[in-house]
Amino acid sequence: MRLSDCYNFHDFRKLAARRLPYPIFDYIDGAADDEKTYRRNTEAYDDVDLVPRVLRGVENIDLTTTIFGKKINMPVYCAPTAVQRLFHYEGERAVAKAADKYGTMFGVSSLSTVSVEEIAEISSGPKMFQFYFHKDRGLNSSMIQRAKSANFDVLALTVDTITGGNRERDLRSGFSIPPKLNMSSMLSFISKPQWGINYITSPKFDLPHLKDYVREGTSAVTSIGSYFTNMLDQSMSWKDAEKLCSMWGGHFALKGVMSVEDAKKAIDIGCTGIIVSNHGGRQLDGSRTPFDQLAEIVDAVGDKLDVVCEGGIQRGTHIIKALSNGAKACSGGRLYLYALAASGQNGVERALSLLKEELERNMKLMGCSSVNMLSRNNLKFRNKI
Ligand code: LAC
Repeated sequence: MRLSDCYNFHDFRKLAARRLPYPIFDYIDGAADDEKTYRRNTEAYDDVDLVPRVLRGVENIDLTTTIFGKKINMPVYCAPTAVQRLFHYEGERAVAKAADKYGTMFGVSSLSTVSVEEIAEISSGPKMFQFYFHKDRGLNSSMIQRAKSANFDVLALTVDTITGGNRERDLRSGFSIPPKLNMSSMLSFISKPQWGINYITSPKFDLPHLKDYVREGTSAVTSIGSYFTNMLDQSMSWKDAEKLCSMWGGHFALKGVMSVEDAKKAIDIGCTGIIVSNHGGRQLDGSRTPFDQLAEIVDAVGDKLDVVCEGGIQRGTHIIKALSNGAKACSGGRLYLYALAASGQNGVERALSLLKEELERNMKLMGCSSVNMLSRNNLKFRNKI
C-alpha cells in the first residue's frame, strides 16, 4: 500500500498502522475508557441526512470562511495535536507547510516538537497556539509571550484536560513521551525499522516550549496522562481564563466547551470563539458529541462567537453537515495525523487535497455554491418527522 492508494481517512489510517510501531499508532488511534464517545463522534453524523437542492448554477464553489479574524480557503483546519515528531520525522513542519499550501489554519500544541518561532518562519498562513494552563506560572507566561511575539493569530485555551483521560491502550503499550521500549513493545519497534531509522537519524525529540521549565528536561519519560495530572493546574477557573484572555489581548478561544452555559460564559470573559469538542473522545468517555451539541450552542452564542465543531470528522459531508448546523468551521486531529504518519508533508497535502475535492464535489451536489448558503434547511434528522 502506497500513499497514492489512499483515498480516504480509513486508507491513511491503514497505512499509518503499517508504518508506526503499535504504541505510537495506538496513541493516535485510541481514546478514553470504552472509546464509545470516540466512535459516536463520527456516528453522530449518520443521524442526519442531507437534503440537496438542484438547478442553482454551481460551476464555481466558494469554500472560504472567516475564523478568528482570518479568512481560510476551506472550512476545516488542522487542530493542534501533540508530539507530531513521533508520528513522522518532519513533525509539525510538515503540517505547517501543508496547511499553508491549502490556505488553512494550523494549530500548534503547547506540546509540539517544533517551536512557535520556527513554525512562524515556515508558514505565513493563519496560526493558532493551543495553550495548557500549567501550575508553573513562569511556563505559562513564557508560552504566551512566545506565541505573541511569533504573531500567532489566536490562542486556544484547552479546558477539557483538567486530569488525564483513561486511555487503556496507552496503559497497555506503555506509551510515553519520548517513547521508551518495554518487552512487549520492543518487537513492534523492531518490526518497523524505517520508522526507527528516521527517528534516530533526524533531530532529537524535544518539547521546545517546555524544556526550560521542566526540572528533569524534556527527555525525561512521562505518559500523557501523568503530564496532564501532574503539570496542569486543576484549580483553573473562569477567573484564570479571563486573565489569560486579557493577557493575550487578541482572538481567544476556549477549546473543549460542550455546554450552552459555558458557551455563554465564554462571551462574558471576552472570548471571540469556542471550539465545541470532547478532545476526540480521549478524555471523558460517555460525553455527548460535538455535532449533537452544536445546534443549541450556535443558537445561544453563534451571533457573538465563532463556533468551531471538532471531533469525528472524516468526510467532506461531515463538514457540510456541521456548517449547515451553524458551525463557522470544523477542525480535526486524526483527520491529518494518520496521513502525516503515512507520508509526512506529502501525506498531509494529499489528505487536505482529497478533503477539498470532496467538499467542492459535495457542495455542487448539494446545490450550494458558497458555504454561506448552507443552513438547517439542508438537514433532516432521522428521529424527527
Ligand atoms: C492528547 C493530548 C496531548 O489528547 O492533546 O493526547
